Amino acid sequence: MMTKVIAHRGASKYAPENTLPAFKLAEDMGAEGIETDIQLTKDNVPVLIHDENVKRTTNGTGLVKDYTFHQLKQLDAGSWYSQTYSGVSILSLEEFLQWAVYKPLYLNIELKNNKIEYKNIESIVFEMLQHFQLVNRSTISTFNPNSIKRMKKFRSEVEIAFLTSRRYKNVVQLTKEIGGNALHVKYRLLQQRLVEKCHQENMAIRVYTINKAPRMINCIKQGCDGIITDVPNIAKQVRKLASN
Ligand code: G3P
Ligand code: MG
Repeated sequence: MMTKVIAHRGASKYAPENTLPAFKLAEDMGAEGIETDIQLTKDNVPVLIHDENVKRTTNGTGLVKDYTFHQLKQLDAGSWYSQTYSGVSILSLEEFLQWAVYKPLYLNIELKNNKIEYKNIESIVFEMLQHFQLVNRSTISTFNPNSIKRMKKFRSEVEIAFLTSRRYKNVVQLTKEIGGNALHVKYRLLQQRLVEKCHQENMAIRVYTINKAPRMINCIKQGCDGIITDVPNIAKQVRKLASN
């Protein structure tokens, strides 16, 4: 299986992360997948934003969970990055899927529920993917093991990835025990042995966040299923060269 190039928060090196311009750019650059982060608004709308607080990536302040979707939509999520993107707004998951459904993209929907335990975020996201008939080309991932456990009931329909940057003794076994069926690991955890173990257990393994060519080459040579990167254009070039 070819290592997929997955754009981390879209082509987030070149456009404001988790916005439509970043996703469109990723697609233009030839990314085969998109990774994005989900928080819930006060009125339980899943929205695409990495931090719990809107401060870093918008002109607002405060927590996402204290905004209604309508209020959140008024914020500018582009100017912090560059004036070129002023007026770009935060997307709901629904808006994102409306765009993605017509593209042949793999989707990695990361639940940002390791700091705030958003009630029912798992089923809200899963049902939205079902609604768009996107479950078969999506992975739901989270750093929160309890959330993975809550998704056990969906695992036969959608891939559930345990996300980790921690060095466990047997992370593959742990993932299985909590009910996950894929593993997304930080680059420093990557080892040939781990890749082999995952594949023996029929689990995909993807690695984040890789922006440098030598690391990309390592992932490809070791047979990882995906490279999650801010620079999908570079990953595409590297993969082409590495396969020659
Ligand atoms: O899903 C991979 C990666 O995005 C996890 O870390 O903080 O960039 O969301 P973070
Ligand atoms: Mg993420």
